[in-house]
Amino acid sequence: MRLDYVTIFPDFFAPLSLSLAGRAVESGLLEVGVHDLRAFTHDRHRTVDDTPYGGGAGMVMRPEPWGEALDAVLRPGSVLVVPTPAGTPFTQATARELATREHLVFACGRYEGIDQRVLDHAASRDDVEVREVSLGDYVLNGGEVAALAVTEAVVRLVPGFVGNAASLEEESHEAASGGLLEHPVYTKPATWRGLDVPAVLRSGDHGAIAGWRLEQARARTARRRPDLLAPGQVEEWVVAPATP
Ligand code: ADE
Repeated sequence: MRLDYVTIFPDFFAPLSLSLAGRAVESGLLEVGVHDLRAFTHDRHRTVDDTPYGGGAGMVMRPEPWGEALDAVLRPGSVLVVPTPAGTPFTQATARELATREHLVFACGRYEGIDQRVLDHAASRDDVEVREVSLGDYVLNGGEVAALAVTEAVVRLVPGFVGNAASLEEESHEAASGGLLEHPVYTKPATWRGLDVPAVLRSGDHGAIAGWRLEQARARTARRRPDLLAPGQVEEWVVAPATP
């Protein structure tokens, strides 16, 4: 898989050379390119933004440098990922889908966003897919941090990236966990600062443990994320005993 980032802050992507992503690059599983948008400007001030047509606060990123940068970076089959609070929600399902693609290009906007024609032009190519995605209902200063978050969610799903495939499937939001939040987890010691690990987890009774974990996952989801459940389930499951 190849990942390219277009940004006015290339330094934001230094963390990509750390930890798992760094190792994936070293092992040849991942190729990464970071591109300074200002390298595609032609004026003395390397201008990338201007005032919005129609008026209003803030600045909008001009289409010319973006057009040149994307011409240089996009290839047949690329997915252009555009982090924006105005995008469709980025979910685990989106991550799974993107993990199957060979080339992702992240367009990291700043200010009030990128001139819409840049994205419309890319979308008009029949060999490129454009995905405007939002991490959640809050506003970041730019797309860089969101692009890193999307990268981490996607890259860990690429086969060969994480050692233990089973641990991926048991996680919150995976279909294998029924779309529930993950149950609470514990490790040694059995008692810490007067707090005991729930006895069932030390019982050796695998059926009871699975039942307890499912009950906890349901109760947690009903309390914290009722939007993930059908209304009847919220009432039924929120009453399960709280942890531990
Ligand atoms: N850029 C700014 N805010 C964002 C958000 N919530 N999600 C994705 N990209 C963003």
